[in-house]
Amino acid sequence: MSSPITGNTRILALIADPIVKARTPGMANALLEQRQLLGKFVLLPMHVSAQGIIPVVDALRQIKNFSGAVVSMPHKSAIVELIDELTLEARLVGAVNVIRRNADGRLVGTILDGEGFVTGLLSAGHRVSAAGCLLAGAGGAASAIAFALAKHGCASLCITNRTHARAEALASRIQLAFPHISISTEPDPSQNFDIAINATPLGMQPNDELPFSSALIDRSTLLAECVIAPEMTPLLEFAASKGKLVHTGVPMLAGQMRLMLDFMGVE
Ligand SMILES: NC(=O)c1ccc[n+]([C@@H]2O[C@H](COP(=O)([O-])OP(=O)(O)OC[C@H]3O[C@@H](n4cnc5c(N)ncnc54)[C@H](OP(=O)(O)O)[C@@H]3O)[C@@H](O)[C@H]2O)c1
Repeated sequence: MSSPITGNTRILALIADPIVKARTPGMANALLEQRQLLGKFVLLPMHVSAQGIIPVVDALRQIKNFSGAVVSMPHKSAIVELIDELTLEARLVGAVNVIRRNADGRLVGTILDGEGFVTGLLSAGHRVSAAGCLLAGAGGAASAIAFALAKHGCASLCITNRTHARAEALASRIQLAFPHISISTEPDPSQNFDIAINATPLGMQPNDELPFSSALIDRSTLLAECVIAPEMTPLLEFAASKGKLVHTGVPMLAGQMRLMLDFMGVE
């Protein structure tokens, strides 16, 4: 059984804006309860706007019973400059989605979006090794996923993005770290894809356009999402109606929840 919140409780947080639909607090506290650690730790939502992040990060250094926080939109890039230490992954990706407070108050950040995404795919029985991948987006989640796909041995990766220069920049960074992988930023018209991944927010709003053309969806075997709300996005609904395999954004979060708790020092 979990213990009540006491003066000994260590605080974890989710820092995000918007936050009301966030699933992290529910999932993290359920996992803590499962491990009989709810009360020793609790994860609280902290609704912090982009303008507020600097004083909030400074204050977290002073809170001695603060263990760490999951960091979500819109802070994942901005927080890189505000904390004291980054893991290699966070440096490569240029974004952070979880921070830990060390006993001396130093804040260390890493990014687990990519590992979470791949863990979710693998646990659903999909294969990444030798896969031909198509990725929409070049922001924080997309960058982390691109590195994780490369690290897990995908054969090729095509990165498309609204701002083409960002796709080019991400493609160059991946190519430098993984020279043997075939990387592009324009889908070859004759190419089929094993996995097409939406790592943009398209699908969160009811009137959003699809992140991939109908032709690209036709040429893909599995359509995977980062968007978590709604769970079945218009992309997944459309792909499923065409008989494609679909994979929601939920396993990506579930896949990294354990990794996040570990990083924040939950034993
Ligand atoms: N399931 C999970 O566990 C999980 C984890 C992390 C993120 N996510 C979701 O993944 C999505 C991306 O998050 P992020 O942190 O990577 O955000 P981000 O760093 O702000 O990047 C957003 C990316 O999407 C593109 N984009 C934004 N609005 C667009 C539009 N209207 N049309 C076309 N492209 C657009 C941006 O293109 P530009 O470069 O042109 O701006 C950029 O490449 C969000 O929906 C987030 O909720 C889910």
